[in-house]
Amino acid sequence: AQAPQPWRNSAGFDLADPQALAPLLQAVDSVRGQRFSAAPLVGGVACPGGPVHDVRNPANTAVVVGSVVEADAAAVENALARASTAQRGWDAGGVALRADCLERAADLLEARGNEFIALLAAEAGRTLDDGLAELREAVDFCRYYAAQGRAQWGVQELPGPTGESNQLSLHGRGVFLCISPWNFPLAIFLGQVAAALVAGNTVLAKPAEQTPLVAARACALLHEAGVPGDVLHLLPGDGPRIGAQVLADPRLSGVAFTGGLDTAAAINRQLAAREGAIVPLIAETGGLNAMLADATALPEQLVDDVINSAFRSAGQRCSALRVLYLQDDIADGVITMLGGAMRELRLGDPASLATDIGPVIDPAARDHLEAYCARMRDAATELAACTLDDSHQRGCFVPPRVFQVRSMAELPGEVFGPVLHLVRYRSDELPKVLEEINASGYGLTLGVHSRIDGFAREVFAATRVGNTYINRNMVGAVVGVNPFGGQGLSGTGPKAGGPHYLARFATEKTRTDNL
Ligand code: SER
Repeated sequence: AQAPQPWRNSAGFDLADPQALAPLLQAVDSVRGQRFSAAPLVGGVACPGGPVHDVRNPANTAVVVGSVVEADAAAVENALARASTAQRGWDAGGVALRADCLERAADLLEARGNEFIALLAAEAGRTLDDGLAELREAVDFCRYYAAQGRAQWGVQELPGPTGESNQLSLHGRGVFLCISPWNFPLAIFLGQVAAALVAGNTVLAKPAEQTPLVAARACALLHEAGVPGDVLHLLPGDGPRIGAQVLADPRLSGVAFTGGLDTAAAINRQLAAREGAIVPLIAETGGLNAMLADATALPEQLVDDVINSAFRSAGQRCSALRVLYLQDDIADGVITMLGGAMRELRLGDPASLATDIGPVIDPAARDHLEAYCARMRDAATELAACTLDDSHQRGCFVPPRVFQVRSMAELPGEVFGPVLHLVRYRSDELPKVLEEINASGYGLTLGVHSRIDGFAREVFAATRVGNTYINRNMVGAVVGVNPFGGQGLSGTGPKAGGPHYLARFATEKTRTDNL
């Protein structure tokens, strides 16, 4: 294996710099005037398929951003056949060629970043700063996995105590199905696909129903960067239907999934029911993520980090803060300050720099969240809420809210939106609080605010959580810096953007030569 190659996180640009901002605002205008399209891409060619749907802007559902053609059974079969035939050649072509493709893709993404950020706003309701962060993450995934692939994929010489020679090498498993979510339609889509590809797999990419347009552009970009059409196929459309066909197929060798726990469990059951080889599932699901603040927390910093962790991206991150545990001694002051800060938040057009919080993804998500909040209002104390005005009626806006509850155990599970629960605790109740966090079964992110190192150490040691953030917000893991992923109900591991990720997309071969 080669030594790890140096690589750098994408620098992005400063949204406060008028010169850097001007082309982004132009791209926002240009996207407003266009209709985008997505279709099944099989063998590098857009093919006719099943039903056609409009894709609407979640900030104003009267606006059609584009349309998507669903992959029908024939397109899925064609993709499986081509991916299966192409895999050996792609694997045998070597990691350098595959890593080159990802590095070219990263360069193209950076060159076309403004168009992607503008389309992320129109299709997925991502604010411009969320879009920029997502673009950088997508670029980082391509460069990081290219570098990791180069470092890990060479032939490793092993000892030959009896005079024989022994070599260990990593290879693609075969055809990988990559199922990505709508909340990071560029970064998670590309992260999964890039990892599977550089490991030597061929890929069927199944984007979320809500965000096929960004995925179609990202897929075309990978082809332009040199990934052959038969190596990467795009299958937009209905998840359960396409999933059922691919998951049952004997040509499938692995699945990477990011999304809801119920869907992950359903995929797992379908894989278990297959005939033949056992197929691995890499699943990254949700979290019932807590933050603990003791009496030494700095209120201003805490409130800022709570706002960013719970409400930024309209709370639609698996890492987002859901339950804030406040030690009694500081609770009253922090709650007052939090309420004041929430009243300052501006909800609106994600493509406007004045907006703090954009819409949730679609009317179904909005209705689900509103129904949840109505139930909570009956059962818990509502402490703070932002209000909506008439301008929000055209879109899927949900105002951030805080509900005070007695314990995390009262909650039904993850609520994917800008809803924060707050629990007051006394310092002698800390062991019970830590027990509650573990008892939820989730283990994705955890925040700690304290000036006492021993407190942070105790919380970190006692909790089964993938990513713990101390005295900062708990979202926005950076590739290669904060490897991201949880345990228990939150996922199978490995961590995305970490050094152990690629190996799970690989199979290992040992060659022993008796010289
Ligand atoms: N990787 C994202 C984050 O850290 C999760 O959705 O916020």
